Amino acid sequence: MPAEQELLKIIGLKKYFGGLKAVDNVDLSVKRGETMGLIGPNGAGKTTFFNMVCGAYTPTAGKILLNGEEIQGLPAHAVARKGIARTFQITRVFKDMTVEDNLLAAFALRRAPGLWASLGRSHTKRNREEAMTYLERVDIAAFAKQKAGDLSLGYMRRLEIARALALEPILLMLDEPCAGLSKDATVDFMELVGKLKSLGTTIMLVEHNMGVATALCDRMTVLSYGVKIAEGTPQEVQSNPVVIDAYLGEAEEAG
Ligand SMILES: Nc1ncnc2c1ncn2[C@@H]1O[C@H](COP(=O)(O)OP(=O)(O)O)[C@@H](O)[C@H]1O
Ligand SMILES: [Mg+2]
Repeated sequence: MPAEQELLKIIGLKKYFGGLKAVDNVDLSVKRGETMGLIGPNGAGKTTFFNMVCGAYTPTAGKILLNGEEIQGLPAHAVARKGIARTFQITRVFKDMTVEDNLLAAFALRRAPGLWASLGRSHTKRNREEAMTYLERVDIAAFAKQKAGDLSLGYMRRLEIARALALEPILLMLDEPCAGLSKDATVDFMELVGKLKSLGTTIMLVEHNMGVATALCDRMTVLSYGVKIAEGTPQEVQSNPVVIDAYLGEAEEAG
C-alpha cells in the first residue's frame, strides 16, 4: 500500500495489564476514506486497542502514526486536537442538556479547550446554525430542542457522533456503536454509517457483531486474546477458519 494513502499506521502495539497481554504486538493501518473494522470476540482487546489510539491508555510498547507523526502516549485531549474523534461504548452525552446544547458544548471544547466557562458565549445564532448542520448530518435535527436524556439509545449514539463530527476529525472512531440497539435501530444506524462513509469520513469501527462489521467495513482486522489472527476484506475474514474458530470458541464459553 502506498504510504501516502495511510492516515493511521500502527506498529507493534502492546498493552499489558500486569501479566495479562490485552493487546500483543498488533500492526494495523487505516487508509484515507475507508471504514476499517477492528473485530473479535469479547475480551479480545478491541477497546484496549481503541483506548490507546485515542490517548486514554499509554501503550506498553509500539508506535501509532497519524499522517506520519508519532502520537502514542499523548493525552486524550491532544490526540483529539490532532484530529481523532471518538464515541464511547457507553454513551456520554449530557443528558440534562438539550440536544442542541450538547453540540454547543462540543464547540466550546473545540474553540477553547478546557474553557467550559466560554459556554455562555457560545449560544450565538451562527453557532446554533452550525450545530444544526451536524445534527442534520446524523438525521436528528428534529430533536434539537429536546432533552438529550429523553432520546432513544440509538439517537443518543447519533448525538455522540454529531459531537465527534463537530470537531471536524480526520478519523472517526466508533466503539461498538450498535451495542444494545434493537434490530431496527441497528439497521438505521448502519444506514447512518453508510451516509458518513459516502461523505468521505474515515472510520475505525470497533465491532463485536460480525454481521454489522461485514456490512460496513472495507477491510477488517481480527483480534483474539490480544493477538491479530486475521485481516482482509470482509469476505476473506468471514471465511477464514481461524476467525470462525475464535467466534465459535466464544459461543461455547458463553454456553
Ligand atoms: N484497565 C484494565 N485493567 C486490567 N485488565 C483490563 C483492563 N481493561 C481491559 N482489561 C482486560 O483486557 C482484556 C481485553 O479487554 P477489552 O479490551 O475490553 O476487550 P474487548 O473490547 O475486545 O471486549 C480483557 O481480558 C480485560 O479483562
Ligand atoms: Mg470492548
